[in-house]
Amino acid sequence: MSPYDFTNMDPFLHNLQIRKFILNSKYPFFIYDLEKIKKNFISLKNALPRNFQIYYSMKANPNVNVVRFLYTLGCGVEVASGGELETATKVGVPPEKIIFAGPGKRDEELFQAIKCGIKVINVESFNELSRVNEIAKSLNCIQDVNIRVNPLFKIEESALQMGGDAQKFGIDFEQMEKLKMLLTNFKNTNLVGIHVFSATQILNQTLIVKNFENTIKIAQAVSALLMKKLTLVDMGSGLGIPYSKNEHEVELGNLKESMQRIIDSTQLQNNTSFVIETGRFLVGESGYYVTQVIDKKISRGKTFIICDGGINHLLRTALINTAHPIAVIQRNAREEFETVSIGGSLCTSLDFFAKDVVLPLIEIGDYIVVKNSGAYGYTESMPYFLSHDFADEYLYVKDEIKLIRKGRKIEDMLAEQILVL
Ligand SMILES: Cc1ncc(COP(=O)(O)O)c(C=O)c1O
Repeated sequence: MSPYDFTNMDPFLHNLQIRKFILNSKYPFFIYDLEKIKKNFISLKNALPRNFQIYYSMKANPNVNVVRFLYTLGCGVEVASGGELETATKVGVPPEKIIFAGPGKRDEELFQAIKCGIKVINVESFNELSRVNEIAKSLNCIQDVNIRVNPLFKIEESALQMGGDAQKFGIDFEQMEKLKMLLTNFKNTNLVGIHVFSATQILNQTLIVKNFENTIKIAQAVSALLMKKLTLVDMGSGLGIPYSKNEHEVELGNLKESMQRIIDSTQLQNNTSFVIETGRFLVGESGYYVTQVIDKKISRGKTFIICDGGINHLLRTALINTAHPIAVIQRNAREEFETVSIGGSLCTSLDFFAKDVVLPLIEIGDYIVVKNSGAYGYTESMPYFLSHDFADEYLYVKDEIKLIRKGRKIEDMLAEQILVL
């Protein structure tokens, strides 16, 4: 039994239309299953107390269709750059449903956000708070802000921590006294709440609840210190999805009750609303990256499969050093299995999707499908390396496969450069 063969049981890959599309494809591509995004949104919505709003962290997958679809389902959008803000507004998300988060916001981006009437800016430092205040003053308005707090607690389980210890994110909890002083002088900012984002890829419900509880404690402490009622608590979340056979989906079963119990025990006011901002959980499982096998070789007893794609299209496996689940679409069905390492066509030893995994026997011309590639796939890669064409993106919607982004070709890459010699 192969540890990876469960992935071949994925109904999406058994859909004849999808299978035929893959078997006729000539170049790597991503395909997103819209139904899966909807399913994950609904399961999360049903697992949260009533006064929670879900904000889609569009850094996970900023494709206009994905952002628009999640907005139409009822999500707000969390943006982390002027480009993301422009994308969200272009697809029809109203500014009052957009939160601007992330470190290093430029003045132009803050101006763009404040001018359009964005709901709230999650401020990452005292300097940023001061710049928000100045820009709001120049626009003759008062901007709502959340303070992003770098908490004292850490989520040990996550490999990707953004809170606890010394961090480039947020303002240390111990520095909140200074905030009190500054806020009295800043007349064009209105502190409405706090933001905590401690880690990503959390699969343990107990940790998610603990994170929420700690976030509430911080909100209460900040509220008491500033002698100000807070109406917004943005708990981040970092909800994960399983990538390896040892990981399991987050158990959402009792989440609502556990969180409601915490809310009921707080002294926050009744009209406080809670935000969960999440990307990976909503879109990660919807995405499939498909690449064709162009070589197979044995080196010192190990079998290597070389594909026409690589980490130029999907860097995540090398970046985080974890394999995604992989399925094989064979041109001719075979029963045997073998242990292989699957690499791409780049001249770097980083270029692997998986190492030493047991998979159905693979031959040249077969297709490798890297699953769970819907979040931090297309966007968190290095598409210019080696000047290969970019991957195309497709959407599977109501039994139709639609092209949603044509990948750049070498002509485009040459056209955007300026030869000065
Ligand atoms: C501030 C902030 N919010 C939200 C997210 C989205 O995280 P995830 O995709 O794990 O839900 C991130 C990810 O880095 C983040 O930094």
